[in-house]
Amino acid sequence: MAEMVCAKCDGTGWVLGELEGISGVTRCDCVLVERKDRIERTSNIPPLYQSASFENFLLPKEKDNPVANRNLGSVMMRAKSYAREYPLSDKPGLLFIGEPGTGKTHLAVAALRSLIERGFEGLFFDYQNLLDRIRTSYDPASGTSDKEAYRSALDAEILLLDDLGAHRTTDWVEDTVTSIITHRCNNRKALIATTNLPDPDAAVVSGDRGNTSPGGRDLRRTLGEGIGMRARSRLFEMCHVIRVSGVEDFRIKKARLF
Ligand SMILES: Nc1ncnc2c1ncn2[C@@H]1O[C@H](COP(=O)(O)OP(=O)(O)OP(=O)(O)O)[C@@H](O)[C@H]1O
Ligand SMILES: [Mg+2]
Ligand SMILES: [Zn+2]
Repeated sequence: MAEMVCAKCDGTGWVLGELEGISGVTRCDCVLVERKDRIERTSNIPPLYQSASFENFLLPKEKDNPVANRNLGSVMMRAKSYAREYPLSDKPGLLFIGEPGTGKTHLAVAALRSLIERGFEGLFFDYQNLLDRIRTSYDPASGTSDKEAYRSALDAEILLLDDLGAHRTTDWVEDTVTSIITHRCNNRKALIATTNLPDPDAAVVSGDRGNTSPGGRDLRRTLGEGIGMRARSRLFEMCHVIRVSGVEDFRIKKARLF
């Protein structure tokens, strides 16, 4: 089948234009659209989240649950302004901390997709899968895509690391995640991460008082235990920490309704 040739630039990628009264050639829109499409295709976003956006993120009704409405509304606003202001804000990353099914991955992907829409390059990795691929890559018989996984986690302009800490912690896991986060932190490269693991400082940093009872201690494995204290410390340095609290599990809510 014959390829469609852009009518505006005749397939050259350049058009004659005028900038501040001076004529010259500029990039045709088709080049920018093609670039965005290519980045979106290679961004590794899983099919379930391929159309996740801020527009299709629903807030609980205020009359049903005012706390959830307010909390989730502010979480979404912070994610949106990060995606709008990037790369100008003080910290190059975002870290969502919260219970399962509260929309962390949805919002992380929405932010990533809106950055791709703005022309940045973004790459999605599931934490477990990334570690498995890096481990496999030590095997001489492994394929090139596994070998490239570690390199692209270091180099990607914007990296989305989903479900941080969801892996049995070993020295190797801790060293590997620390090296990725340290490299990205030192080079001020954007990292958008999500995690279920609680952190005692997340509520303080993100400015919400949380929902734990006064003096009550969370006995689950913490973020520091999951990825190591060095990686955790750098996450706080490089990311806006967003705690998603007081929100119902969307998967369960949906299952109840249908
Ligand atoms: N507020 C919302 N509006 C619309 N869809 C939502 C909302 N919250 C969650 N979802 C959808 O529900 C599913 C679960 O959400 P998501 O995967 O973002 O949760 P999560 O916080 O990442 O959970 P986990 O910690 O288990 O990974 C997804 O399909 C997501 O698109
Ligand atoms: Mg998730
Ligand atoms: Zn064109």
